[in-house]
Amino acid sequence: MPTSDRINSVADARRLARRVLPRVIFDYVDGGAEDEVTMGENERAFREISFRPRMALRTPEPGLEATVLGIPLALPVLLAPCGLVRLMHPDGATGVARAARRAGTVSILSAVAGSAPEDLSGEPGPRWFQLYAATREMAGTLIKRATDSGFEGLMVTVDTPALGKRERDIRNGVPTPLRLDPRSAIQLGSQVFARPGWAYRMARSGIAFRRRANPAPAMPGAGKVAMTASPFSWDDVEWIRERWTGPLLVKGVLSGEDAAAAAGAGADAVVVSNHGGRQLEGAPATVRVLPEVVDAVGSRIEVLVDGGIRRGGDVVKALALGARAVLIGRPYLYGLAACGQSGVEKVLEVLRSEMTRTMILLGCGSASDLDGSWLRG
Ligand SMILES: Cc1cc2nc3c(=O)[nH]c(=O)nc-3n(C[C@H](O)[C@H](O)[C@H](O)COP(=O)(O)O)c2cc1C
Repeated sequence: MPTSDRINSVADARRLARRVLPRVIFDYVDGGAEDEVTMGENERAFREISFRPRMALRTPEPGLEATVLGIPLALPVLLAPCGLVRLMHPDGATGVARAARRAGTVSILSAVAGSAPEDLSGEPGPRWFQLYAATREMAGTLIKRATDSGFEGLMVTVDTPALGKRERDIRNGVPTPLRLDPRSAIQLGSQVFARPGWAYRMARSGIAFRRRANPAPAMPGAGKVAMTASPFSWDDVEWIRERWTGPLLVKGVLSGEDAAAAAGAGADAVVVSNHGGRQLEGAPATVRVLPEVVDAVGSRIEVLVDGGIRRGGDVVKALALGARAVLIGRPYLYGLAACGQSGVEKVLEVLRSEMTRTMILLGCGSASDLDGSWLRG
C-alpha cells in the first residue's frame, strides 16, 4: 500500500487511488452522470475565477478557523457523505471520522456508507448523519437510530428522487445501485484480481464481503425497499424537522428559491450541491450558483457548497463568495483508497497548507475577512 508522503496534491491521491482500486470501484468514485459535463464544470468553474490579491502587506500566518452551526472548525472543509466508503479501504467510515476529527473538522456518515450509525457510536463527536429514505417510515427509523447512536447533526439530501445515469458503472457491469455479492464479484473477478493488494486487505479485515459492499444491512429500516431513490418533498423536510432537534442541513439545492424553501421548512443550513455531477447532467456548476443562494438566504441560515474542490485555493474562492465552509467528496475518497485513514488526513493537510499559502499570497490574514473584494469581478 502506498504511504501518505506520496500525496502532495489531490491529483496525487487520485493517481494512487487509480493504481490501488479495482477499476469498477475507482470508476464508481471517480465517475459522474451521463457525459460527465456537470462533473467537469464543477472543477472548471473554480479555475475560471481569478483572485484580486493585495501586495506588500506582511500577512502573518492566516487563521483558517470557521464556525459551522455552532461548531468551531480548525479547517472549513467538511467531509461529505459518501456511499460505500468501506469498499475503498477497510478503515472505512471510522477512519474517515477519525481523520476529520484530527484535522478539526466534521465528517458526515452517509445512510448508505456500508457502516451503520451504531458502528460509529463510540467515536468522539461531533458526528453528523446523512439521510436517504424511500419512505417516511424508513426515515423515522433511521432518525431514531442516528439519535440513539449520538449523532448531533442531520443532513437531508434532496437531489436524489431517482439515481443519476452513471454510465461508467453500467459499462463495468455494476448492478444499480452498486452492490457486490459473490455472483457479481465473480463476474468482476478479473478487475478485482488485478488489484491483489486491495483484495488482500479486504479479505484480511475479516468483515463479510457482502456486509461491506452493500448498504442494506446497515439500514434495517429499509426492509425490502431498494435504495435507488430518495424522493423527499419540502413537506417531508418539515416532517423531519419536527422529529430532529439538532442542527438540520438540506443538501442539494441549486437555486435561491429552493434555498428559501429549505429555510422555510426549518433547515439551519443548505449545501449548494449537484452531488458531484452524479445526478442531474446539465445541472450548473455549484460555485456559479453559490452567490444566488447566498443572496437569497445568507442572512437567515448558513450556506455551504461542494463539488469540484481540488485545491486549497478553491476553498478560498468559495469562502470569498459567501460560503461558510465547503465539503469535499472524491478528494478524501482518493486519499482513503490510497492509504486508509492516513491518506484522508494527508489530503486534508494538503488542502490546509494550500489554503494557508493562497491566503498569504493573497494578502488576506483570516478566512473570516474573505469576501468578494478578493476576487476579480
Ligand atoms: C462515491 C461517492 C458516493 C457518494 N455518496 C453520497 C451519498 O451517499 N449521499 C450524498 O448525499 N451524497 C453522496 N455523494 C456526493 C457527495 O456527498 C458530494 O456532494 C460530492 O462528492 C462533492 O463533489 P466532489 O466529489 O467533487 O468533491 C457521493 C459522492 C461520491 C463521489
